[in-house]
This record gives sequence, C-alpha cells and structure tokens, in this order.
Amino acid sequence: MNPASELRDIAGQLKRLIISNMEMGIDFSRLSSYAPKNSSEKQAHIDSLEDLRAFIGDCKRCKLWRGRSNLVFGEGSPNARLVFVGEGPGHEEDQEGRPFVGEAGKMLTRIIENAMGLKRKDVYICNVVKCRPPNNRDPERDEIDSCIPFLREQIRMIKPEVICVLGRIACNELIGRDLKITQVRGKWHAYMDIPVMPTYHPAYILRNPKRERQLKGQVWDDIRAIMARLGLEVKRDV
Ligand code: URA
Repeated sequence: MNPASELRDIAGQLKRLIISNMEMGIDFSRLSSYAPKNSSEKQAHIDSLEDLRAFIGDCKRCKLWRGRSNLVFGEGSPNARLVFVGEGPGHEEDQEGRPFVGEAGKMLTRIIENAMGLKRKDVYICNVVKCRPPNNRDPERDEIDSCIPFLREQIRMIKPEVICVLGRIACNELIGRDLKITQVRGKWHAYMDIPVMPTYHPAYILRNPKRERQLKGQVWDDIRAIMARLGLEVKRDV
C-alpha cells in the first residue's frame, strides 16, 4: 500500500471508530490511553484488566454480539512477560468464554506448557475481536475497528516484554496491513514499542496436515526466538 492510501485507510478507520463509539455513547476520555498521562482522575477509571472488562460490559458496539454466547475477553497473568494474540473466538471459546480452548487452543497450550515449560496462567492469551464471527469467518473491518482499542488497552496495561501474534489477522492488525504471514513470521517486529514475533496460527497447522511437520518446525523456530528474547530455557519439542 502506498503512503497516501495508507493514510486514507487510517483516517477512515479512525472516523468509523469515533462515529461508532459516539453512537454507543463511549466516552474516549475514560479509556486511559486516550487520557492525559498525568491525569490521575481519568486514569482511576480504567486502570486494571478487571476495570476494562467491566467497561466493555455487555458489548453491542459491533454486530458480532448478535451471534455470541459469551464475550471472550482474554485470560492469564496481568503481569505476563509474553502475550499471545489470536484472531477471534471459535465455537468452543464462545461457549466457554475463554480464549484458545478448542483444537487450536490445545495446540497452543502444548506449545506453552510442553515446549516453553510455562503454564497458561503465566502468559496472557487474547484475540483481536472478543466475540465469535459467524461460522468462524474472518472478522470484518468494522468489527475489528470497534474492538481493537480494547486489545490495545490490554497490551498497554500488561506491558509484556514480547507479543506473539498468531496468524494473518492478528499480524495485519499489529504489524501492518496486507502482509503475508509466510513473509513476516520468524522476524522481529514491534507494536507500541514492544517486540512482536509473528507465527502461524495453530488452526492453520491443523488445516494443513500434509505440511504439519514443516509448519511446526517453523513455529518451533519462532518459539525458540521468543524464549531466547525472554532469557528462558527451551524445554522440548512442539
Ligand atoms: N482461534 C483464535 O484466533 N482465537 C481463539 O481464541 C481460538 C481460536
């Protein structure tokens, strides 16, 4: 994308976001990243993940609320050194209200627990959109625009040392539009000055059983890079 169309794209997103938030009656000043840094009064409104969850409430800011059973806010340690960002809840996640608990989630859990030697509760796991898109379709632009301020706030509050983005959608939102996961994975990027390592979404590996060995090998390389960055010792194979 050239700089002019990128700027138009950003301006369009901002406009849609402001209009939809005004329509829903959201006061931007209550989201602490939009408040002046030294305003303790405004910071006091939303200064924890619990406050943010309460602020999101029974969200109807985009059309995804119509099909959801549960909003999937995210879970893990508020002091996590590592945050995983996926795309959006699937069926199981929607049913349980927890991120990455279906088949793809089981693979992510194996990566965290078996390969990294951590516990799910040691890291933080969340998604670009907090409600399940119908039939697991990709989240649409307006849905992402409505939800992305909350992901930003989660990351701003947790201040992880590393973010691992899982798959194309999260990669496009945190690193840059129109990037191919195959081209960016394995290389360090940044989001809000935090190092970001993109890797394949576990669901992508599950959808490509013939390439499982190769894809898992690449994910393993990416995980090793993350572990090295965090100064942690790798446990064993994915
Ligand atoms: N896929 C995602 O991107 N997120 C989840 O929470 C589950 C599956």
